[in-house]
Amino acid sequence: MPRTTVVILPGDGIGPEVAREARLTLELLVPEVEVREELLGGAAIRATGEPLPQQTLDACLAATAVLKGPVGDPEFDAADVRPEQGLLGLRTALDTYANLRPSVLGDVDLLIVRELVGGLYFGARGTREDGTVFDTCEYHPRQVERIVRRGFELARRRRGRLTSVDKANVLETSRLWRRIVDETAPRYPDVQVEHMLVDNAAMQLATTAGQFDVIVTENMFGDILSDLAAAVTGGLGLAPSASLSDGGPGLFEPVHGSAPDIAGTGRANPTAMLRSTALLLEHGLGHADEAGALERAIDAALEQVKTPDLGGTATTEQLGAAVREQLAVDDARVLS
Ligand code: NAD
Ligand code: IPM
Ligand code: MN
Repeated sequence: MPRTTVVILPGDGIGPEVAREARLTLELLVPEVEVREELLGGAAIRATGEPLPQQTLDACLAATAVLKGPVGDPEFDAADVRPEQGLLGLRTALDTYANLRPSVLGDVDLLIVRELVGGLYFGARGTREDGTVFDTCEYHPRQVERIVRRGFELARRRRGRLTSVDKANVLETSRLWRRIVDETAPRYPDVQVEHMLVDNAAMQLATTAGQFDVIVTENMFGDILSDLAAAVTGGLGLAPSASLSDGGPGLFEPVHGSAPDIAGTGRANPTAMLRSTALLLEHGLGHADEAGALERAIDAALEQVKTPDLGGTATTEQLGAAVREQLAVDDARVLS
């Protein structure tokens, strides 16, 4: 059997800083797994001229799972070739259409299931003769069906509640979305479904996030709502995600970006990246025990060690080290 391989894409800004902690933790938990690093985003543009070099793409396609830091650099904001294009290309190449973004804190335990390879990000775009610039939100019914099914499946295994978020009062794609949710619902009689317009969903998330179980929504709405859900459950520094296909390697990445405002200062919270590593262990490698151990270690470390975004003074490395110390404590307890 080929060896289990994890490709790490450190990315840009705080990416390499949080990716280092993830790599050390992964190597501690599953030393038998082969780990290799490749370039993506701004770092890749600087080295090769392309945001997703062929070598990176080949390595990711051949990997068991991919762990990705954020990409994006103000240096390329106005350029034609931009870091984010590499990320969108990678998501498409891996067909990781189901982006799972959990938010957990206090009485809030929700999961945003975001469609990741369609919609406004991938529709027709351009400039008309009169100078009008356009991006188009496009969905084929099959693209909607597969993500909606994922939403129902996940809700069935959680608290059995699914909120489908759309803008059906305005958009054709949202009316398609709503129709497919309604057509799918009878196959999941154990799941209670509701439709919610996206503006209201944003308000409800900000005020009473505890009401939600699973939220299923299209690409752009999911992008925006997941930052909001992160904000009401401890902040972007804590929010992980898993992007899954129907069989190929999954892509595991924090919800947050490259945080150029704090890059290089040691202030980045590595928790989102470490929680993404836990999701990789569980969904990408099938190591549920190690994933559970890592989740417990992160929770225990966060009781005592806090980065500046959480009101503390710890550095990225100090929090990473504290998590690995907790893993050793947990290990000793299991062995004794
Ligand atoms: P951002 O998420 O990078 O930062 C928003 C705010 O949150 C900043 O104040 C930042 O310091 C803070 N923050 C983010 N992550 C943090 C962490 N781990 N610890 C502590 N504080 C943290 O969003 P932005 O500034 O709008 O975007 C910066 C760049 O990141 C852009 O180029 C954008 O395209 C890119 N981006 C990439 C991804 C990705 O690769 N998945 C996601 C979002 C944004
Ligand atoms: C995210 C990011 C990306 C997205 C950008 C960088 C393309 O914001 O993963 O949330 O919008 O999907
Ligand atoms: Mn985002």
